[in-house]
Amino acid sequence: MFQVSREFAPPFSLISPFFTVGSLLYLVAMLLLPTFGADSVRYDISVVAWAHLFLLGFVMMIIFGAMAQLVPVVLEVGHFSVDFYYLIWPLLAVGTAFMAVGFAFLPSLLPFGGLMVLVSMLIFLADTILTLKKVERISLTVKTIAVTNAFLLLGILIGFAMSLAIGAGVGVDIEKWLGAHIVMVLGGYVTLTIVGMSMVLLPMFGLSHGFDETPVNRAFKIMSAGVAAYFLGALLDSDSIRFLSLIALFIGTGLYLWQIWLIYKTRARKESDIWFKSMVVGYGSLAIALILAPIALIGRLETLALTATWFLVMGFFTFLINGHLYKIVPFLVWFERYSPLVGKRKVPMLADMVPKKAAEFQFWFTAAGLVTAGVGLLFGSDELFKGGAAFMATGAVFMFYSIRWMINFTEGLED
Ligand code: HEM
Repeated sequence: MFQVSREFAPPFSLISPFFTVGSLLYLVAMLLLPTFGADSVRYDISVVAWAHLFLLGFVMMIIFGAMAQLVPVVLEVGHFSVDFYYLIWPLLAVGTAFMAVGFAFLPSLLPFGGLMVLVSMLIFLADTILTLKKVERISLTVKTIAVTNAFLLLGILIGFAMSLAIGAGVGVDIEKWLGAHIVMVLGGYVTLTIVGMSMVLLPMFGLSHGFDETPVNRAFKIMSAGVAAYFLGALLDSDSIRFLSLIALFIGTGLYLWQIWLIYKTRARKESDIWFKSMVVGYGSLAIALILAPIALIGRLETLALTATWFLVMGFFTFLINGHLYKIVPFLVWFERYSPLVGKRKVPMLADMVPKKAAEFQFWFTAAGLVTAGVGLLFGSDELFKGGAAFMATGAVFMFYSIRWMINFTEGLED
């Protein structure tokens, strides 16, 4: 499917800023990470500032760039208006910076940053919805994109309402809505989008086929129901609905991991390149988070909950995203610069377009940092947390270097 419909793909110059800015803000967030300690509580406002810098500036930025490319490819129709994307990344980048500064130092700046982020996301959502309307066959992928985008819209509207409460004194009960905001954006958008995209990307890069897709279909339904139920739980202020919805999210995640195992077992490409190793750490982290989170929920153990969140966000999200960049960026660069030359002169292989040493350093520093800092959080050790965070910051330097190296790849074009 990926090969058939590349004609709808937008130009690389439109997508590359998402990857450059995303990896730059990732680097900034990682450089700031060692300033926190193992005792930083989730509700500390500097943690909230950092969380948005990381989640909006890196996670959402890269997802939006990837979606600019993948939505038309998967749906087999062109974007409603691809030019929208020239607005999305600057608004998201500046809005994120304002939000981070607003949270940390200047609450009155927060609604402005929030509004810019909101507008950039509304543009993204408008393009996606108008693109979906052009699709004639309503497949599961179409439904997936529609559902996740609806969750994103609700999640950011709640976020914006909360930012008005902090920055402008509007009467919104943050305690009541914070959980719903987190579950809608992290569960309903980021995780479910990764679930949907991974079903296209993993079989393609690992050359898997002929596997049963029942687990992921069930996982998607159960997780969507869980996210929707959490929203209802917040609306009705019901602890039992919130509890049950989290259980549904855990069951859905378990089914998704089972699906990943089925894909892994049928893969034909056996080499363990940087992408494959990143997937192992990413899904391993998701499994760790899934073991810790239910214990934390039932035992009401705050430290365990924080450690589970750490592995979900810094292990699963980060390694899935960074790992895929080593496949997606070379592919896009190759398609843009070398595909017109096929048959006329020697063109590089995709594997030659990855800076292998820098990628290895990135992987090992980040993985070592992830585990060290995760153990530090679990046992409340500042030294371990800060040491791990410094490792992750070093990994991020190599990540930024690798992204720029891949984007600037022009070998063999000059002569
Ligand atoms: C228009 C966009 C957004 C706005 C205005 C916004 C605003 C807010 C506000 C006001 C809070 C509450 C802070 C507090 O506890 O006092 C919050 C918390 C949070 N938001 Fe957002 N948000 C937005 C988008 C997002 C997105 C897209 C994500 C994830 C991808 C996200 C993840 C989180 C998380 C994880 C927390 C909890 C942080 C913590 O407790 O440490 N937000 N957000």
